[in-house]
Amino acid sequence: MYIKTNEIDFETSYKILIGSVVPRPIAWVSTKSKSGTFNLAPFSFFNAVSSNPPIIVFSAGLKTIKTEHGYEVGPKDTVRNVKDTGEFVVNIVSRKLAEQMNQTSANYPPEVSEFDAVGLTPAPSHMVSAPRVGESLVSMECKLYQHIEFGKEAGAGNLIIGEVLCFHLDDGVYKDGYIDIDVLDPIGRLAGIGYCTVKDRFEIPRPKL
Ligand SMILES: Cc1cc2nc3c(=O)[nH]c(=O)nc-3n(C[C@H](O)[C@H](O)[C@H](O)COP(=O)(O)O)c2cc1C
Repeated sequence: MYIKTNEIDFETSYKILIGSVVPRPIAWVSTKSKSGTFNLAPFSFFNAVSSNPPIIVFSAGLKTIKTEHGYEVGPKDTVRNVKDTGEFVVNIVSRKLAEQMNQTSANYPPEVSEFDAVGLTPAPSHMVSAPRVGESLVSMECKLYQHIEFGKEAGAGNLIIGEVLCFHLDDGVYKDGYIDIDVLDPIGRLAGIGYCTVKDRFEIPRPKL
């Protein structure tokens, strides 16, 4: 089978992308709005892309509501807050936080804080105004490096590039300069409602010439 992307709709492309680019790590992004409300939402279009300077990226699609006249689109709260304040925190999701993480993806209105809605602790950050998730074992305080909009239509992504200003590492998760993956117990996202852990693992030594 051969599928040209300009001959299919964005929802079909989306399903192929999220079923093929798997598993995806999850950025649980906390922000603060201009009016002071704390926001929290997960994004699995996420990765680390540089270590000097340390840079992470995540991408939020436009908020898309299907109506009888087509699609209504607008910014997600996270993107609006990042653009307004230039700051955010990426929190890593351990297995024990998966259900609360999922609940924070519900479509809460901007004036409702997902921290309160799902019972999480907005712990103070050191270098940015957005709080971190107190229950996360790893959090990264970030300042906005660049924002790239891929369009204004339904399905268009907003790439947020962030410079990591500092890491918050739980004492138990950082040992001898390494993150202990058994303690972190991170989850990844598959397609639809699928997730994975890292329990089924194997190692391959680096190749030698
Ligand atoms: C595990 C998971 C991963 C998600 N990944 C993305 C993503 O990469 N991009 C996106 O736009 N929405 C993603 N979502 C949906 C957003 O979390 C959802 O639209 C949320 O309501 C946005 O919140 P906000 O308006 O407070 O920013 C994901 C949801 C879940 C549960």
